[in-house]
Amino acid sequence: MVFSLQERIAIVEAYLSSGSIKKTRDTFTHKFPNSKVPACSSVQDLVRKWHTTGSVANAKRNKPATVRTPVVVADIEARISRNPRSSARKLSQEVNVSRTTCRRVLKSLSLSRRIQRKAMSSVISCDGDSSKVTDHPNSSTAPNQLTSTVRDKLYIETPVLHSFPLSDLTGMKVYLKLDNLQPPGSFKMRGISHLIQKAAQNGTCEHVYCASGGNAGLAAAFASKQLGIPCTIILPVTTPAFVADSLKVLDAEVRVHGEVYDEAKNLALELSKQCGSLYVPAFEHPDIWEGHSSMIVEAARQMQVKPDVVVVSVGGGGLLNGVIQGMRQVGWDDVPVVAMETHGAHSFDAAIKAGEVVTLPAITSVAKTLGALSVTPSILEYYKEAKPPIINCLVTDKEAVSACVKFSDDHRFLVEPACGASLAAIYSEVILRLKEEGKLTKASSVLVIVCGGAIVSSSVMEAWKLQYQL
Ligand SMILES: Cc1ncc(COP(=O)(O)O)c(C=O)c1O
Repeated sequence: MVFSLQERIAIVEAYLSSGSIKKTRDTFTHKFPNSKVPACSSVQDLVRKWHTTGSVANAKRNKPATVRTPVVVADIEARISRNPRSSARKLSQEVNVSRTTCRRVLKSLSLSRRIQRKAMSSVISCDGDSSKVTDHPNSSTAPNQLTSTVRDKLYIETPVLHSFPLSDLTGMKVYLKLDNLQPPGSFKMRGISHLIQKAAQNGTCEHVYCASGGNAGLAAAFASKQLGIPCTIILPVTTPAFVADSLKVLDAEVRVHGEVYDEAKNLALELSKQCGSLYVPAFEHPDIWEGHSSMIVEAARQMQVKPDVVVVSVGGGGLLNGVIQGMRQVGWDDVPVVAMETHGAHSFDAAIKAGEVVTLPAITSVAKTLGALSVTPSILEYYKEAKPPIINCLVTDKEAVSACVKFSDDHRFLVEPACGASLAAIYSEVILRLKEEGKLTKASSVLVIVCGGAIVSSSVMEAWKLQYQL
């Protein structure tokens, strides 16, 4: 029996909405009067039959974006009908349909309760059902109730490490929130995957467009791959070839367009005007901030005590916005935040001095991923509200790079200078100086957000060492 892709989808959809093989047959016959669903005792029977002649893998290859979820469902059903045990495991890793749907499918295929539980325990919840968790007693809202299952699937819970080398160096207790361990290499995965996930749940995301050869692009490609959504990343011609290669590994379509970032961005905006397309910005979106805030709620649960200071890097301000929102959620709004930038990528510092958002003429710092010409206006509002209080500080490129090099020796992690700016708050004694100047009343314990960065390698690190004579 050979069914077309549309027919298979219609069957799956009809079955999922009715739960009855009889109703499925009626609906199908009504929709496709020239086709016929053969006699079958159950949907399992039916699925087993159709997959003897049609391959879902092929169907998926040619799939139009709009039919993604039903095809995934069909794929799941096919696997389950062939090998329930390994299918349940795969389902737990890959599935992207609602819990209710999965439960119904698993149940209908009479898998054992144990296998069902195993599969259900890490299924992504797309329908806001009861699988929500609160990560911290003080956290009342938003992304930590995003559903823990979403978080597990798209970004990981990263550890907070009590760093003995850095504590020994400074005499403070230094804690590191290791968001460099997110699969694509940076914290960006939290917010960007949250944005895409939310849009997909609202049915407004059949194709992702993003203009970034940096960590935002990698996160968008990674999240899209996880969700099975086609993704196009637009890069300006100046982007190094290895960036395009890493994006292609994540199955993203890479288009090279424009001499500068703004031209690539304009194309991404233009393409995303098509119905069902989603434009993913690098930092300026509330869903991105909401996603980033989860790192603080996690940290509060992991640490159990409030730190005296939180240190974070600032580019366009998306990360800082998320950190502040998280701190408000967990009751840390009295803990000062030290916001780190480098000279030459100092759009936050310039905005604070001017009392309004300003546009830098150019980015001259080595910390290219901090290189937003202007910050998102809401961080200036947060700065004025001072809940938590924000102290902004600048370091030189050499200090940021030197912090990356020392950090690789102390903890064996490679990070970008954007992250080095935060680490320089420790290595260049910025926190100690702020304490001496009376700008920080307490600094016995410090939480540093290790925001990561994927555009670094051992050879790049060697080149920096030469350039900055380290
Ligand atoms: C590694 C890294 N750290 C920090 C930032 C700054 O984040 P934001 O632009 O949200 O302030 C970025 C931005 O791309 C980044 O890639």
